[in-house]
Amino acid sequence: MQNLIQPNAERMVSRIESLAKYSRSKRGVTRLSFSEESEQVNQLVSEWMQEAGMSVRRDAVNNLIGRYEGTDPTAPVLLIGSHLDTVIEAGKYDGILGVITGLEVVQTLFENNLRLPFPIEVIGFCDEEGTRFHTTLLGSRAIAGTLTSEDLSACDSDGLSLSEAMKRIGLEPTHFKQAAKDPKSILGYLEVHIEQGPVLEKLNQACGVVAGIAGATRYEFCVEGEAGHAGTVPHILRKDALTGAAEMILAVEEIAQQMESLVATVGKLEVYPGASNVIPGQVKGTLDIRSINNRVKHQAFHQILSTWEEICKGRDLTLKLKKVMDSPAVSCSSKWIERIGNALENHAMKRVVIPSGAGHDAMAIAEIAPIGMIFVRCRKGISHHPDEYCSPEDMQMGATILLDVVMQINS
Ligand code: HGY
Ligand code: MN
Ligand code: MN
Repeated sequence: MQNLIQPNAERMVSRIESLAKYSRSKRGVTRLSFSEESEQVNQLVSEWMQEAGMSVRRDAVNNLIGRYEGTDPTAPVLLIGSHLDTVIEAGKYDGILGVITGLEVVQTLFENNLRLPFPIEVIGFCDEEGTRFHTTLLGSRAIAGTLTSEDLSACDSDGLSLSEAMKRIGLEPTHFKQAAKDPKSILGYLEVHIEQGPVLEKLNQACGVVAGIAGATRYEFCVEGEAGHAGTVPHILRKDALTGAAEMILAVEEIAQQMESLVATVGKLEVYPGASNVIPGQVKGTLDIRSINNRVKHQAFHQILSTWEEICKGRDLTLKLKKVMDSPAVSCSSKWIERIGNALENHAMKRVVIPSGAGHDAMAIAEIAPIGMIFVRCRKGISHHPDEYCSPEDMQMGATILLDVVMQINS
């Protein structure tokens, strides 16, 4: 059956190109959560969802949800989703491909008058990256029922709180718990995503199965020293927050390089007061630690922390840390891994099973449903960069595999 009906690659490509235009930046795509651009994208994707025979709603935290009824409206729903927000100067495919692929599979069913014995909901999550408020997996955590009111007090770089940003687009932040779904109402969750890594390209294969998703620990840190005149304060008397932070950042790299299956990154750094003739008195930054092995991630964090404390003590600096996220590695469900593997073999591909170093909304949804992920090859594994690229052929294969998996549930 699945060979008879084909997803429409041109339509997918044209939709991805259309969405890429909604960007705050000229270089790459910058579409932060609760922004004007994200509202415009929600509007456009809603129209496409209606075209695909879905009813559309926005939930209490601005996730966009299209529902395609099956023959039994009371049956547990199959969720297919990914995120519509981006990092800064991102590519066109991270997150977006998963939403457009889910939409394409439903539209292909609709155009062939096919109804399955269960409803399907395609979800465009509102804020997976956490770029604006540093609240990662916000939309998927709300659906999983794990979002807290404390998360809503997070502020963006202009000092606007998440709850204020929600109000500005007509949401009542105190109602965020209404987004939570009952686990019993869910058949399972599937997410199609670019691999953001080099494995599929190396294996010369369009798609692969995700085994599991690396855990992530994220902190904000602040190093306090003493600002002073760059021309008059001798080095022996300085409490330079930036040189201290520089030593700390190199220590992160050294520790991560010594540990198996671990990556650690200081991705953001702000220097205050930020004048060329003033010794930096304060540095704020972010620490991101990932591993598929929870014990390694935990050990790495504590090694970094004790090294940082030693460096700050030696330089007479103070260190403050705030935990932003600490999610364990999650495994995909064996049932979905098997079905996706079957679909790969049905389409002359090998049963390639790879771990994901990148985080995904599936991590949050794993709390309430068995998760499955399909990776699609992207050129040189480049992502979180304007050069991110996924070919129309590979996009079509991703949708074909997803359609095949969905049809297997039926069988
Ligand atoms: O950071 C990540 O792994 C994902 O892109 N949010
Ligand atoms: Mn991303
Ligand atoms: Mn992503």
